[in-house]
Amino acid sequence: MTSDLFASRPWIESPAPIDDSVVGMLGQHEAALFYHLARSYWRGEGTIVDAGSFLGKSARCFAAGVRANPKLGPTTRIHCFDDFRCHDLLTVNLVREGFGDEIAIGDSTQTYFDRQVAGDAELLEVHAGDFHDAEWQNGPIEILMVDIAKSPSLGSRVVEQFFPHLTVGRSLVVHQDYHHVWLPHIHVAMEYLADSFELVVPRADDTAAFRLVAELDPDRMRRIIANDFIADERVELMGRAIDRLPTDKRFVVQLARLNLLAELERFDDMRHGLADVRAVQPSQLSPNEATALRTIEDILDMHDIADVYARGDHERALAVVDRVLAREATPRAHAFRAVILANRDAGADAAVAARAEAERTAPPELRHTLMGQTELRFGLVDAAQATVRQQLQAISADSLPANLCDLLVAVWKRRPPTADADELLEDLGQRFVTDAEVDWLRARLAFLREDAAAAFAHARAGLDRGGETRRAVDLLASFQLTPAAVRAATSN
Ligand SMILES: C[S@@+](CC[C@H](N)C(=O)[O-])C[C@H]1O[C@@H](n2cnc3c(N)ncnc32)[C@H](O)[C@@H]1O
Repeated sequence: MTSDLFASRPWIESPAPIDDSVVGMLGQHEAALFYHLARSYWRGEGTIVDAGSFLGKSARCFAAGVRANPKLGPTTRIHCFDDFRCHDLLTVNLVREGFGDEIAIGDSTQTYFDRQVAGDAELLEVHAGDFHDAEWQNGPIEILMVDIAKSPSLGSRVVEQFFPHLTVGRSLVVHQDYHHVWLPHIHVAMEYLADSFELVVPRADDTAAFRLVAELDPDRMRRIIANDFIADERVELMGRAIDRLPTDKRFVVQLARLNLLAELERFDDMRHGLADVRAVQPSQLSPNEATALRTIEDILDMHDIADVYARGDHERALAVVDRVLAREATPRAHAFRAVILANRDAGADAAVAARAEAERTAPPELRHTLMGQTELRFGLVDAAQATVRQQLQAISADSLPANLCDLLVAVWKRRPPTADADELLEDLGQRFVTDAEVDWLRARLAFLREDAAAAFAHARAGLDRGGETRRAVDLLASFQLTPAAVRAATSN
């Protein structure tokens, strides 16, 4: 019956019986997959976990499925995990289109979730909060849907908290982000555990599903949790993950491998890889595939422009950026043009105009960092430092944008911070009295100056001030530490 399900793939023909108006990020086939798994695969031998519930669409699909399953009982629960916060512009737009409301990045989305799942509320157990802090204490998991592994640290948490509760021969891990370019850590982790998993759904929209068929090796899980892979290993695992897929379902994962190569700054390999992928690309690309391809092309083009510029061929760099702008006028391409023009004799006015265009079109989360990041990318460290300082001066909000702080630290890493940095922190400390970001800037400055005791103390101060765990995880990873280790090391 189960293998029939994976062979007959009812999700292709038979959609999830939920209202078309339900707002969410799932494609039609994956929404139907979730429904059919809950309806025909789930036996009530473990729970269903909906990790990354967003506005409730995946929960609705699972709930509709269990309602159609004779195993539904009074204690049946679907466990929903999310921090219910707006993380990106896509969410801002979905909420505007779906509910007619204007929200901003950082706002709560919980009311929309509650509204959309109201009819199924008694079937759901909601775990609201940063998933970095989530703990699983609800026994075996039969279906684990993962749409929350948006960073390596979140991916580690999924493996750490949930994987020990999977049952051999029964449990499914359903990765909604598998056919995406941005999260190669998911492919690396699943491939590293490939001896224990069988690929049962190679692709339904962006999703792939795996069944646990053999005990998980605790040492392998530990390495995944610690994200302890060298670059070559990651690339090799990614290659094997691609080979595991049927040839007609490899395209996006091949592009994800190219993104991994970009992260590792292996741009020549990336270029050859892109030529190979293009040579066998499907004749008709779906909209998602076309976006994935454009993303990778953009990453490579932007690298090439900065590279040509660094070699002194500014005219060619300008020609390439103009070609990119003609294809798609992204804020980043405008920013690249502004930087090239600003550093060219006859370009001052045009540079100002290009910069204004970059800032006008930049999404809010990029607004403060776009120019500084671009200058840093071109190796113009002084210019980047000046831009970051100017942006920090200009901030009128009551909290410090985290990505601007990260950019400041990136500048410090390129140019060892002097006494100016202490003055700047003094000033920020007075302006943002209760902001943990200031403590964490102090911690990172101390770390760069090899004063580990001060780094620990400031990191601890940020945690004590209520700084978010998600943020601390990323910062402390650069010290090779976790928040728990910092707390332990600085407790009396
Ligand atoms: C792509 S959405 C999930 C889509 C959803 N499954 C659906 O059916 O439409 C990813 C979700 O991950 C959540 N998320 C991202 N980072 C998180 C974190 N650190 N803790 C908890 N949730 C997080 C976001 O709030 C978002 O709702």
